[in-house]
Amino acid sequence: MTTVPIELTVNGRSRRLDVAPNVTLLDVLRDDLGLTGTKECCLVGECGACTVSLDGRIVDSCLVLAVEADGAAVTTIEGLAVDGRMSPLQAAFLDEGAVQCGYCIPGQLMAAHDLLERVPHPTVEQVQEGLAGNLCRCGCYGQITEAVLATAEGHDR
Ligand code: FES
Repeated sequence: MTTVPIELTVNGRSRRLDVAPNVTLLDVLRDDLGLTGTKECCLVGECGACTVSLDGRIVDSCLVLAVEADGAAVTTIEGLAVDGRMSPLQAAFLDEGAVQCGYCIPGQLMAAHDLLERVPHPTVEQVQEGLAGNLCRCGCYGQITEAVLATAEGHDR
């Protein structure tokens, strides 16, 4: 199949790739760039496990073609760490016991990070609404909400 050259800035690093026109951003991140923190699950935009930030806006990367992302800045879960250490938001997820199987957590963290960027001091309802697109089969919604609220109380993340 014919490939198309694209350029992405992923977690601050410029990456040039040749991709097939039907390949998703999710596939490029995981298979070509080795960034397997972004999870592959439903592949139809229902679960949020594949959530990444695309030019400052969170998207389901399973629904974005890599060619559509040409020229964009992408942040994945690997880009949330600060100086190689967990961000306060990530640490809060651990402190609150918000992680069971962990599969949804990268997407939950990306959505929560986005929410706190837009709404630094969210209410419980705003957290629930902000994370409504991210499903957790373990049912950790209460602890996840507490982790986001605790991070907001700590101000920095
Ligand atoms: Fe993309 Fe579920 S894998 S939304």
